[in-house]
Amino acid sequence: MNTAPLQGIKVIDFTEVQSGPSCTQMLAWLGAEVIKIERPGVGDATRDELQFDPDCPSYYFLQLNSGKKSLALDAKTPDGKAILTKLIQSADIFVENLHPGAMDKLGFSWDEVHKLNPKCIYGTIKGFPLSSKYVNLKAYEPIAQVTAGAASTTGWWSGDNDVPTQSGAALGDSNSGMHLLIGLLAALQQRNKTGEGCYVYQSMHNACLNLCRIKTRDQLTLDRIGYLTQFPQYPDQKFGDFVPRSGNQEGSGVLGWTYKCKGWETDPNAYVYVILQRPLKEFELACKALGFEDWLTNPDFNTADARDKHKQEIYKRIEEFTITKTKSEVVELLSPYGIPCGPVLSTKEIMDDQSLYDGNTLVKINQGGKVGEFVTVGCPFTMSSFQPVYAPCPELGGNTSEVLKEYGYTDQQIAEFAANGTTTKLAAKK
Ligand SMILES: CC(C)(COP(=O)(O)OP(=O)(O)OC[C@H]1O[C@@H](n2cnc3c(N)ncnc32)[C@H](O)[C@@H]1OP(=O)(O)O)[C@@H](O)C(=O)NCCC(=O)NCCS
Repeated sequence: MNTAPLQGIKVIDFTEVQSGPSCTQMLAWLGAEVIKIERPGVGDATRDELQFDPDCPSYYFLQLNSGKKSLALDAKTPDGKAILTKLIQSADIFVENLHPGAMDKLGFSWDEVHKLNPKCIYGTIKGFPLSSKYVNLKAYEPIAQVTAGAASTTGWWSGDNDVPTQSGAALGDSNSGMHLLIGLLAALQQRNKTGEGCYVYQSMHNACLNLCRIKTRDQLTLDRIGYLTQFPQYPDQKFGDFVPRSGNQEGSGVLGWTYKCKGWETDPNAYVYVILQRPLKEFELACKALGFEDWLTNPDFNTADARDKHKQEIYKRIEEFTITKTKSEVVELLSPYGIPCGPVLSTKEIMDDQSLYDGNTLVKINQGGKVGEFVTVGCPFTMSSFQPVYAPCPELGGNTSEVLKEYGYTDQQIAEFAANGTTTKLAAKK
């Protein structure tokens, strides 16, 4: 059985860049028909951003738009507005992530769309929540990270590298897309009961802050007791009144750190992450694996609270163990004892790992033409009853005629739309 969960669901996709497209990518992979509206001759901004070849769409675009249809449409022309109106009238979901106010200017705000089609769910991504003083700001990934506590709590807390630091993970972009996806799927379920679509507003700020929840936990603790036992600064350094950056310390109460391994001098990823859990049983096993049995009778180390106070000595001694071995050897030696550990892997190592392709963590899509095959991250969860189809990405406007015909337009009308600039970019007048 391979029933697509969103089979029969029609999505009008007015999104671009990463946040919105990552959401509609999932809708497409789950089986919805996704019609991506793109400005004629311009298209999604990522099409020609960071291209590997001037004749090909960028990997940025390719990785976020598989299996969608592309309709070139200028929604500012009267015909463009009429076509979009028609599309919305039969849509289940409309999604957009233009700058604040842009959709109102185009005449397709939530209120307008709801009037056109009360069943249509309206998903939107903006930088900030509606109640925020920043609500009208445009936003990209780093704006979400710096304003939602991610950057201020990431990185080093002293020395030259003591600066707010970006995560390499797209906490503002794709993460917002996934959060919106949850909202849209909930809205679909709600519509099954009420018959009416609703407005799902997702800010990048909320999505990023949701992933920084434990930093707000730390702030609450700090407000109450003035220190954070799990942080590397404890017990020797003073805490301020805000959550500091904590380097590579694990976020919960267990004691984790990134340790150098053999070859670290030349390989920037010759590191391993090792965690000491709090319970005695796990600690005993760790001592056995590391050969540190003397810790079991030493009051500086034989309780979890004592270890928090002596973590710098722990970091130092574990690194003396790891630095003589490769990261793989460390994992092989420690994991049989149930010690949580993992090698620091580069993007190259990840993308060269055949097992990830075997399980569809990474998938290869054949785009054809000059692009050929490219790799993307597949649907991040697996379903026992469904396997997504990973289809190629559309050319800009590649489905324009097909979609317009589906909506009842004649060949003559389609030719007129092309001639009057609704579906093609007209050459600038001299
Ligand atoms: C990403 C962002 C900063 C880009 O801003 P931008 O450069 O102004 O680009 P936008 O795509 O929003 O809008 C550009 C114009 O194109 C227009 N446009 C886009 N698609 C169109 C179409 N198919 N037909 C006609 N006009 C179109 C918009 O209406 C807008 O016109 P306006 O400036 O007259 O209002 C902004 O869209 C934003 O803040 N979005 C919300 C947060 C977000 O998702 N960020 C992206 C994270 S990856």
